[in-house]
Amino acid sequence: MNGSRLLGTGSALPRQVVTNADLAERVDTSDEWIVERTGIRQRYIAGEDETTATLATAAARAALADAGVDAASIGLIVLATATPDNTFPATATKVQAALGCTGGIAFDVAAVCSGFLYALATADSLLRTGMAKRALVIGAETFSRILDWEDRTTCVLFGDGAGAVVLEAPSGDAAGKDAPGIIATRLHADGSCHDMLYVDGGPSTTQTTGHVRMKGREVFRHAVVNLSDVLKEVIEEAGISVDEIDWVVPHQANARILDATAKKLGIAPEKVIVTVHTHANTSAASVPLALDVARKDGRIKPGDLVMLEAMGGGFTWGASLIRL
Ligand code: UT7
Repeated sequence: MNGSRLLGTGSALPRQVVTNADLAERVDTSDEWIVERTGIRQRYIAGEDETTATLATAAARAALADAGVDAASIGLIVLATATPDNTFPATATKVQAALGCTGGIAFDVAAVCSGFLYALATADSLLRTGMAKRALVIGAETFSRILDWEDRTTCVLFGDGAGAVVLEAPSGDAAGKDAPGIIATRLHADGSCHDMLYVDGGPSTTQTTGHVRMKGREVFRHAVVNLSDVLKEVIEEAGISVDEIDWVVPHQANARILDATAKKLGIAPEKVIVTVHTHANTSAASVPLALDVARKDGRIKPGDLVMLEAMGGGFTWGASLIRL
């Protein structure tokens, strides 16, 4: 039996655009280096009045409008973020209050750049058990707040934003790769890779928020291997051939990772949705942001077979195949 169905998507970006040239005025970098190594040309950075919760709420409202459903029908909010408004309570509860749909379930998921995949699988599992009928699954970040703006090896890579989807519990009569809904999902983590991508602070260690630290080359190497492995697992579990996939919506960390992963699996590059040039790496927000962009510009259509995939700190990684 297929899992939950996707009813709508939405996204939100901060007002301010920061270009590579803007960053070259702050640190020893250049537009040429950033474009050549990552594909990134610009990113959106949150202003003082913009937080993870405000961006998440705006994305959620857009997704509700797109789905044509009322906030009152949402019984579950799962929000993926590594940059919550507060250490607690969960940013999901702030979104719930802002939407005026209190009383249901609301919590955050911490799986960094794979957060949206983890949140989607968690929401789908709860919907399948009947705990709620409709869910908002949100990826929202203000990574600019945990960047070391003196460190050129990380500060040029990330941006802020939010994306959201509305999910509906499976009706029970949809099964197989041609029917709508989530068809197959696989998630993984390898905690022994902690030091390759982490934040050097936190409430229980330093009592500070800390900054992002990354061994970029190592992360790159693991990302291509882990992503192609998990994509193969999901393709096998779903019983499809690579050619049947209409679109791949990957986590947007680096255009070279997207190219290398697609090549390894024999996926045509024109089937890969790329937004890293405009959004940079928005961590948990990147997959739902890219999904929303490609639905709204008409590339991803109802009935398409779409593969979502991501890899991030932990390491954590995962993929999910969904028929729209
Ligand atoms: O979202 C979670 C997952 N994250 C990722 O997937 C990120 C994965 N990693 C990457 O995307 C790439 O490894 C980076 C974009 C982070 C770096 O690209 P790279 O081709 O692996 O470069 P590198 O780290 O090997 O650095 C090459 C050179 C170094 O100089 P030397 O030691 O060769 O003299 C760096 O110091 O580039 C230098 N460099 C820079 N130069 C100009 C590093 N950052 C910059 C910069 N501007 N911003």
